[in-house]
Amino acid sequence: MGQEKLIIALDGHSSCGKSTYAKLIAAELGYSYIDSGAMYRAVTLAAMDTGLFNDTDAPPFSRIESLLGPMELKLKHNPDKQRTEIFLNNRMVEDFIRGMEVSAHVSYIAAISAVRRKMVEYQRMLGHEKGVVMDGRDIGTVVFPNAEIKIFLTASLEVRAGRRYRELIEKGMPADFEDVQKNLAKRDHIDSNRADSPLKQADDAMLLDNSEMTLEEQMIWFRDLYERVRSTGDETY
Ligand code: CDP
Repeated sequence: MGQEKLIIALDGHSSCGKSTYAKLIAAELGYSYIDSGAMYRAVTLAAMDTGLFNDTDAPPFSRIESLLGPMELKLKHNPDKQRTEIFLNNRMVEDFIRGMEVSAHVSYIAAISAVRRKMVEYQRMLGHEKGVVMDGRDIGTVVFPNAEIKIFLTASLEVRAGRRYRELIEKGMPADFEDVQKNLAKRDHIDSNRADSPLKQADDAMLLDNSEMTLEEQMIWFRDLYERVRSTGDETY
């Protein structure tokens, strides 16, 4: 395989460090990083703002569909803050989508096929020139089934809950360890059991459990995989 740009699909369980890992890989290769979860979180925020969750976990499909029609999502790089930010109908919502309230509702929204269709279309458009690292739940199975590198990342529930809890506290957001752990377990359950594009390891994805790995160790593992794919075109070799 020559030096043409690749698509790297990074899927896995909730809060196992996919975005940190994906950003590092993207920076090393000079690729763009695309956080597909931010898109589902932004749609959830829009549904919450419209009051669709008032008395229910799962809002009516018809109301979600009418919300989706005119909805405009955009990812833009902010060079000052050195991060990609998500815009919902031209409003920058990056700072409102990471908290526990959105986390509590997002998996219900992500199970709706009309939502997935719109998100997948945007994700494919963003990846059409390749040179992207995209993280999510269905990137290697549905969005880019032909991605040259597919990684399925996981870690123990306790480790993942500890990481997310610390992340929220560091950002000054309210968090309770037990609530965080319950939310991760619940999202994993809904994400893995939904009918449309459930979270699962693609047949040709490489599994990485990073429960006891440092980021540097994960990067060493990645470089080895990348070199194998570059030299043989086959990540499973
Ligand atoms: O909290 P964490 O970083 O693990 O999750 P996220 O990547 O921000 O994704 C939030 C939620 O969006 C997931 O729990 C899924 O319900 C949904 N999602 C999805 O269904 N498909 C994707 N490709 C990405 C996220």
